[in-house]
Amino acid sequence: MNHAVQAAPAKPVAQSPTSDEIRVNIGCGTDVAEGWWNIDNSPSVTLSRVPGMRRALKLPEWPKEVRRHDVLRGLPFEDGTVSCVYSSHTFEHFTYEQSVSVARECFRVLKLGGVLRVVVPDLGKIVRDYLIDESPLASHRFVERLLLGHTWRDALHPGAHHSQMFDRRSLVAMLREAGFSNPQVTQYGVSKIPDVQKIELESRRAESLYVEVEKSREDGEARGH
Ligand SMILES: C[S@@+](CC[C@H](N)C(=O)[O-])C[C@H]1O[C@@H](n2cnc3c(N)ncnc32)[C@H](O)[C@@H]1O
Repeated sequence: MNHAVQAAPAKPVAQSPTSDEIRVNIGCGTDVAEGWWNIDNSPSVTLSRVPGMRRALKLPEWPKEVRRHDVLRGLPFEDGTVSCVYSSHTFEHFTYEQSVSVARECFRVLKLGGVLRVVVPDLGKIVRDYLIDESPLASHRFVERLLLGHTWRDALHPGAHHSQMFDRRSLVAMLREAGFSNPQVTQYGVSKIPDVQKIELESRRAESLYVEVEKSREDGEARGH
């Protein structure tokens, strides 16, 4: 499969908000992690900062640390400068082609030994739950949980509906396609990212699939970095 979608180069930035180490949280939502670049593209980030707008439109209160940026346009960091990229419940909002493109950007910006951790809703679990649900409307609950029905409101809330669903095989395959040779399925809180507990949401634990990969020398040689 060739799913090349080229991201336009984003303007590089100089350094992380609080330290020399750059750590990036893609699709952070309103849960920001201290010491990370917390990136989200929701229009409500900008709108909620216009006086009076947040209350009038009942928008969420976005922490000031959240930077509005569309990762489909690339990541605003130089090659090989980022220590960790974390993303929770965001890759499923991209098409498969877009998710490969964003993962390639993660590959580009990560240092050797840098870590990408992707957390998504686990389609395998949703299917298993359906198969043991004996209630008459199990089929409807199953379909609802997929959240695949886009509406015009997604323009204001890009986190409301999904464009794809992953299981462990497809998430590993997507990261391999992006250039990472050894993605591994892991668990809540089990990570090479120091202090992962500061960014990982307990509220996502029961429904999530966790896959992590370190950018290795073999990946780098294969792709000429
Ligand atoms: C379901 S929320 C997840 C929030 C949080 N990470 C969590 O696990 O609860 C997905 C987030 O991804 C953001 N998002 C969707 N597409 C994006 C894009 N192209 N660039 C940056 N953020 C995006 C949405 O605005 C939304 O806040």
